[in-house]
Amino acid sequence: MAYDPRQPHDGLPALPPAVDVESKSVLKQCLAATRALAELKGAGRLIPDQSILINAIPLQEARLSSEIENIVTTQDELFRATLNESAVTDPATKEVLRYRTALKHGCRLLRHGPLSIDVIRDICRVLRDMPGLEFRSPAERVAIGNATTRHITYTPPSGGAGLIEKLRNLVAFLGDAGDIDPLVRMAISHYQFEAIHPFTDGNGRTGRILNILYLIQAELLDIPVLYLSRFIIRNKSVYYRRLRDVTENGDWESWLLYILAGVEETALWTSNRIHAVYELREKVIERCRNEIPKVYSRELIDLVFRQPYCKIGFIVDAGLAKRKTASVWLQELNRIGILTGEKIGREMIYKHPALLELLTA
Ligand SMILES: Nc1ncnc2c1ncn2[C@@H]1O[C@H](COP(=O)(O)OP(=O)(O)OP(=O)(O)O)[C@@H](O)[C@H]1O
Ligand SMILES: [Mg+2]
Repeated sequence: MAYDPRQPHDGLPALPPAVDVESKSVLKQCLAATRALAELKGAGRLIPDQSILINAIPLQEARLSSEIENIVTTQDELFRATLNESAVTDPATKEVLRYRTALKHGCRLLRHGPLSIDVIRDICRVLRDMPGLEFRSPAERVAIGNATTRHITYTPPSGGAGLIEKLRNLVAFLGDAGDIDPLVRMAISHYQFEAIHPFTDGNGRTGRILNILYLIQAELLDIPVLYLSRFIIRNKSVYYRRLRDVTENGDWESWLLYILAGVEETALWTSNRIHAVYELREKVIERCRNEIPKVYSRELIDLVFRQPYCKIGFIVDAGLAKRKTASVWLQELNRIGILTGEKIGREMIYKHPALLELLTA
C-alpha cells in the first residue's frame, strides 16, 4: 500500500534500520564530527568554573531551540530574565528558561541512570511545565504540516500501547553498545524520536535535549554545551525535508550526513566560542589585578562570566560580600569599562558587553 502522510504511521520500522546505514561517506563525516566533538570536550575543560559554560551556552541553545517553535524572545529580555527568574511573566521568556531548566534536569537524571522512557517523559514535563504529562493516548492524534494551508506532511503513529512499544525499542537502541558508531546512533535515534512524536507538543525540543544527553551518556561530552539548535534553525526546511525523506524513501544517508555535518559545524563553532570566553576571562583577570587589585578576586570574575547580566544580589547570594561592598565592586568594574551599569526601575544592572558579544555573535 502506498504511503499516506495523512494516516498514522503505525508501521514505523523498529530500530536498528534494516539496512547497513554506515556508508563510506557517512563514516567519513562521522569521523570529522567525532574529532570536532573531542575538541569541544577539551575546550570545555579549559574553563575552571564550569558553571560559566553550563549557564551561558545552554541559555543561547535554549533561545534558539525555542525559536524553532516560534517562541521568540530578545537577548535583552532573556538576559534580564535571568536576573530574577521567578518574577518572569512573559510566556515566551518563561518557555525559553524552561528549556534550560529541562536540559539541566536531564543532566541530573543521567547521573542516576541511563536514558529511559521515564527520563524522556520527565524532560518534557519540565519543558512544558506539566507535572502530570503523559505520552499520547490513542485519542491524542497529532499531524505535522502547514498550519495555514492545512497540508499534512506526516502523521505520527497512534498513541497508546503501540507508541510505548516503539519508545522501548528506541531506548533499548540508545543503550545498546553494538557496533554502530555513537554519533550515527544519535542521529538515527533523533529521527526515530521525532517520527514517534510521543507527545502532543514539545517533541522537537525534547528531541534536541535528548541528543545532548545522549552525547553525555556516550561520554562524547562532559557537559551540555553543544549548540545544535543554531544549525537546525538555519537549515530548518532542509531538516524537515531530510526527516521526510527517511520516512518516505528510506533515505538514511542524506539524514545522517545532514546531522553529522551539523554536529561537526556546531561543535567547532561552540569550541571556538569557549576559547574566546577563556581568553576574555584571562584578559579581564589581568586587568583587574593591575587596575583594581583591592576589588579583584577569582570568584568575582567567575561570577561576572557566569551570566552576561549581573546584579548586586548575585554577589551577596554567592556569599562574596555584603550589599554595600558588592555595589562598590560593580561600580569599580564599571569604571574600568568591564561592565556597563544601567538603572532599570529601582535596581542597577550591570551588563558585560564583551561577554555578550561573544555569546551572541
Ligand atoms: N515530517 C516529519 N517527520 C517527523 N518529524 C518531524 C517532521 N517534521 C517535523 N518534525 C519534527 O517535529 C518537531 C516539531 O514538533 P513539536 O511541535 O511537537 O515540537 P516543539 O518542540 O513544540 O517544536 P519545534 O521543534 O518547532 O521547536 C520538529 O522540530 C521536528 O523535529
Ligand atoms: Mg510545538
